[in-house]
Amino acid sequence: MDLNIAVIKGDGIGPEIVDEAVLVLKKIAEMYSHKLSLEEAHAGGIAIDMFNDPLPKETIDVCKKSDCVLLGAIGGPKWDNLATGSRPEKAILGLRSELGLFTNLRPAQLHDSLIDACVLRPDIAKKGIDIMVVRELTGGIYFGERGRKQTDMGETAWDVEQYSEFEVRRIAKVAFETAMKRRKNLTSVDKSNVLESSRLWRSVVNEVSKEYPDVDLTHMYVDNASMQLIKDPSQFDVILTTNMFGDILSDEASQITGSIGMLPSASFGDTKFGMYEPIHGSAPDISGLNIANPIATILSVAMLFKYTYGLTAEAEAIENAVTTILNEGHRTADIYTPGVDVSDKPIGTKEMGKLILDKLG
Ligand code: IPM
Ligand code: MG
Repeated sequence: MDLNIAVIKGDGIGPEIVDEAVLVLKKIAEMYSHKLSLEEAHAGGIAIDMFNDPLPKETIDVCKKSDCVLLGAIGGPKWDNLATGSRPEKAILGLRSELGLFTNLRPAQLHDSLIDACVLRPDIAKKGIDIMVVRELTGGIYFGERGRKQTDMGETAWDVEQYSEFEVRRIAKVAFETAMKRRKNLTSVDKSNVLESSRLWRSVVNEVSKEYPDVDLTHMYVDNASMQLIKDPSQFDVILTTNMFGDILSDEASQITGSIGMLPSASFGDTKFGMYEPIHGSAPDISGLNIANPIATILSVAMLFKYTYGLTAEAEAIENAVTTILNEGHRTADIYTPGVDVSDKPIGTKEMGKLILDKLG
């Protein structure tokens, strides 16, 4: 198969983790005889430095003519004082909206061998964590009207949370379809005791649920959901939620799987075109130190094979290699437990990447 992939390394640890993921991509392409063509493009802080624009049109063009995009991470303190529209984050939000990626899948799974790295009590962790967060990605408060003005209480700013029936229906369908392929259990998270947009959200989700009688649907307020995730994460299968709540709950879900450095993600619109990225940020404090965990990005490559190309054997080969390396006790700093793990100190980004690469075959 011809694989045409756009690669955006981004800022901070982005280049380090993407380099490891690209080695995995190349090796899998070679092992399974695919013709791989990678095209690098720039976005985020690095694009501000190079082109004075966090998301140059050329980058969008490179992405649009590829089958999918592999992205590292974007942002950093160097660009923190820029105005909203010129900040590096504009790149990630711009890519999502320009490419029409309204669905964001964030799987949170606790590997058996990482129970010691999990912050929850062992009896809770041992019940298992295998959650798919389906986050709406191009609507809500992230893209609603915003502004600032002077009032008699000083400067006042606002961001509007807004959802249309159309937007809720299309993401709800994705969530129900996802649940049908899993344990058929869906929790829709909103704040409908307070927000009008959540009341619309809930009623549209109820309406869509009629097409999926086999899926067991529960509604949960976001405050309760964040508590239940810590109390008993085993109760969740698929979580459907808004852009903002999904951002928050997926970070929480990642932490109970050991580390945010473990979680990949995939974003889609109506086609197989996808953008694949770790859910973590650019971690400027550890950038360039060969400390970052490359697993989230490597697992994002597995999702890329599975969802954009439908190549499940390739995806499973990567997932199995990661699981085996973890079972063998190899740990980067973020998932390291002294006294439990195989070596007396954590390994680096490159070493972890190499171990996974060698395990592939
Ligand atoms: C994420 C990130 C982004 C988001 C930031 C970098 C804009 O936190 O992908 O979760 O808020 O969506
Ligand atoms: Mg986030």
